[in-house]
Amino acid sequence: MVSVTIVGLGYVGLPLACLCAEKGLKVYGFDVDKNKVDSVNRQTSPIDDEYIVGKLKSLRNRIHATADPNECIPNSDVVIVCVPTPVDRNNSPDLTAVMNSASTISKFIKPGTLLIIESTIYPGTIEEIVLPILKKQKFDAYRNDVLVAHCPERIDPGNKQFKVNNLPRVVGGITKEAAEKAAEFYRSIIDASVTEVSNLKTAEATKIIENTFRDVNIAFVNEMAQSFDKAGIDIMEVIQVASTKPFAFMPHYPGAGVGGHCIAQDPYYMIERGKQLGFNHEFLKLARKINNYMPHYTVELLENELKKIKKALKGAKVGVLGLAYKANVDDTRESPAFEVINVLKTKGAEVFVFDPHVKNGGNVKDLDELLNKSDYIILVTDHREFKEMGLEKLKKHKILVVIDGRNCLDKERIKSMGILYHGIGRS
Ligand SMILES: NC(=O)c1ccc[n+]([C@@H]2O[C@H](COP(=O)([O-])OP(=O)(O)OC[C@H]3O[C@@H](n4cnc5c(N)ncnc54)[C@H](O)[C@@H]3O)[C@@H](O)[C@H]2O)c1
Repeated sequence: MVSVTIVGLGYVGLPLACLCAEKGLKVYGFDVDKNKVDSVNRQTSPIDDEYIVGKLKSLRNRIHATADPNECIPNSDVVIVCVPTPVDRNNSPDLTAVMNSASTISKFIKPGTLLIIESTIYPGTIEEIVLPILKKQKFDAYRNDVLVAHCPERIDPGNKQFKVNNLPRVVGGITKEAAEKAAEFYRSIIDASVTEVSNLKTAEATKIIENTFRDVNIAFVNEMAQSFDKAGIDIMEVIQVASTKPFAFMPHYPGAGVGGHCIAQDPYYMIERGKQLGFNHEFLKLARKINNYMPHYTVELLENELKKIKKALKGAKVGVLGLAYKANVDDTRESPAFEVINVLKTKGAEVFVFDPHVKNGGNVKDLDELLNKSDYIILVTDHREFKEMGLEKLKKHKILVVIDGRNCLDKERIKSMGILYHGIGRS
């Protein structure tokens, strides 16, 4: 039986561990976070994700989680790294977790093991950072002492259609043998295409281009939304009809900001890599600037509506709906909600926050309490609980202004109740 260790039991590692267990592999989960290890061993998910919650329960004890590398790495034919790759305060790539995990793995891995990095990294990371760490333990990946490959993870937490088992994969290896072995491994566990690319850097670059593509396209619609707003055009209707063009248009939607561990961060990885190589990624930087400004723009929309009713933000009671960076998940990493709250508070507003998916995140117990305490609301996350709240609640709780940071509420209905409404590029 093939045995595999998944290093890092987070949003990426856990679904993968579940899939491997489902496919009959012997699965270890290695994580430095003891709480996560204990939680997985109790078959309770450390993440609020229906899919993982269900799988962990049904798999019972088929994933053995541990914080001891000696218990898992030497016993594995395949080791897959799914550790975080954040940016630091200066938006520079922070590869500490990749380096630490590589260092641990290098001390315990047995020769001939397939080592796959799934974490998002800039092109060149494996050759320049991971391989020298392996070399210190006398493993030469170019000689296949350890077979090193990269298979960027594409998972989209909360996505009901594409899960870890049916997302097409791209793999690259440090040698042809490593790429082939990695491709063979993924073909044995997923029901989707696995494409081998000619070299490792190409695989690393694939993930970067996918995520920067999203960031720049979102920045583009965010810019269009702001200009269409001035022209009195509803961008949502424009996007809807532009989408009837059967080629060369792909809808992206404006919003209160871009968050999450991927889209809001990965462009910085390429910006930094470009810098190291003497290239200035102006387009990527501009996209980041536009998207980072969206929480401020969202608060400005509220200020503009308040002016219409001769009110000011200072002292205003504002309810913020949502802390998670996207709908129906509990992940708050890089969420624009924090900046919205920060700007509101800096401008003197009293802020109430509620998120049904984020435990201990807000300062009220439920949506009713939030609406009761607030005069104005800003919706930041389009959770189903907010979209389906029943808009009469707004009237009942005497809400005067709604800023719809995800353009997900029925604007005509809200306006018909005498409430001021403004979305992002939509009023
Ligand atoms: N979250 C997503 O939607 C997503 C999607 C695609 C790709 N990715 C990429 O996948 C990678 C992992 O992201 P994530 O969201 O799963 O992160 P996460 O923070 O949810 O999980 C990472 C886990 O790694 C553990 N860890 C940290 N250092 C470790 C070490 N040295 N040894 C062992 N375990 C360690 C952490 O304790 C944590 O449990 C990142 O590179 C990310 O960019 C994430």
